[in-house]
Order: sequence, then structure tokens, then C-alpha cells
Amino acid sequence: MTFLITAGPTREPIDPVRYISNRSSGKMGYAIAEAALDVGHDVVLVSGPVNLAPPTKTKFISVSTTDEMFEAVHRYADELDVCVLCAAVADYKPTKISPTKIKKRAAGTSLELIPTCDILQSLGRQQNRKFLLVGFAAETDHLEANATKKLREKNCDIIVANDACVAMETDENELLILFCDGETKRISRASKTFLARELVKIFANSQQKRLTKKL
Ligand code: C5P
Repeated sequence: MTFLITAGPTREPIDPVRYISNRSSGKMGYAIAEAALDVGHDVVLVSGPVNLAPPTKTKFISVSTTDEMFEAVHRYADELDVCVLCAAVADYKPTKISPTKIKKRAAGTSLELIPTCDILQSLGRQQNRKFLLVGFAAETDHLEANATKKLREKNCDIIVANDACVAMETDENELLILFCDGETKRISRASKTFLARELVKIFANSQQKRLTKKL
């Protein structure tokens, strides 16, 4: 199967030297890419800026902004069997990017922000998509309720929910997996490498089931 995985944060520039971003390390996404490669899948890895070496044998696409990530994902969408959007995409970007460095002023200042384009939602809205669509949800509260809402609103097949405080920057994670048929599965705390192997099995099986149902 061909997997596309997004990983890491995105960066939204404010001026030539400043940006908005988040603490995502990319470790979960890169571990999923490695695990998929290990069992013989083809992998397209679309990554925001992280301090990790891309696995060899992936088609590696390095991006910075959400718009660049959106464009890269849509470029490959027709060729995919499984699309895993694991990146912690910036939710907002500055309305305007200043072409020159914004000067420090004695008084305070404020930044006007607009929402970034939602990659997961844009894929969920595609009619007759052939690939399994997986989103991630990093939450600090009401994990299951928020993830269930996301599963429905974004029209994806699976949401992998994790506690943002446990998941961010660490080598371990614990997961709650929600399926669109209402099934749920919990995987207790383990290394991201172990969890990634479990996830790849689950994603490949789910896509197989989807295809069988459609025949
Ligand atoms: O609604 P929220 O942004 O929290 O949803 C998280 C999921 O949506 C993640 O899978 C993330 O990769 C994806 N996402 C996206 N495009 C955005 C924001 C989030 O694909 N602009």
C-alpha cells in the first residue's frame, strides 16, 4: 500500500525573522513512516521543520507553512491507500506577513490572525475518496468527546487521540483510537516505535476492510 504521512509542526511567518509554531517534534509521524516502511509499504513523508533525519526509502517532502503542506498532500492524494495526518498544523496565521522586521515599540502590539486551511477537512470532503483517512487529535481536556466530534466533523475513518501533555516532544505516548463505525481501541503507554507498528497494522487492516465492503 502507499501511505502518506504528515509530521511535525508548521510555521507561519510574521516577518523575515519571526514565526508562529508549536512544540511538535515529529517523532510520532516519523515512527509511523519507519513502521510502514519496515513492513514493505511505500511512504510519502510530508514534514514540517523538525530535528529528525528522514527515513531512507521514503519520498520525503520538506515543507514549512500550512499552505505548503496542503499543496504537497493534495499533489499525492490520488495515489494513496492510507493518508495519516499526524502533523500539528498551525491553526492560525498572521493576516499579513511584514516584508521587513517589525520594530520593537515602547507600547504593546497585537497580531491579527486568520485560520489556516484545514487539510484534514479538505480531504474528508472529497467525494468517493479511495484512501483511508486518519486524523490525529492532541487534546489537553475532554479527550474522547473532542476526538469524537473531530471524527464526525472532519468525516475521517479513524481519529487517533492523545493527551497533548503526554505526547508532545516525548518518546512515549498512549492512544485512544476511534473508528467511524463507533468502535474504539485503547493502547496503553508505550514507546512511539511500538505504537507506530500497531497503528500501521490497524490502518492497513482498516483500508483492506473498506475496500472489501465497497466491492
Ligand atoms: O481540529 P484539529 O486541528 O485539532 O484537528 C487535528 C487534525 O487535523 C490532525 O490530524 C491535524 O494533522 C489535522 N489538521 C489539518 N490541517 C489543519 C489543522 C489540523 O490537517 N489546518
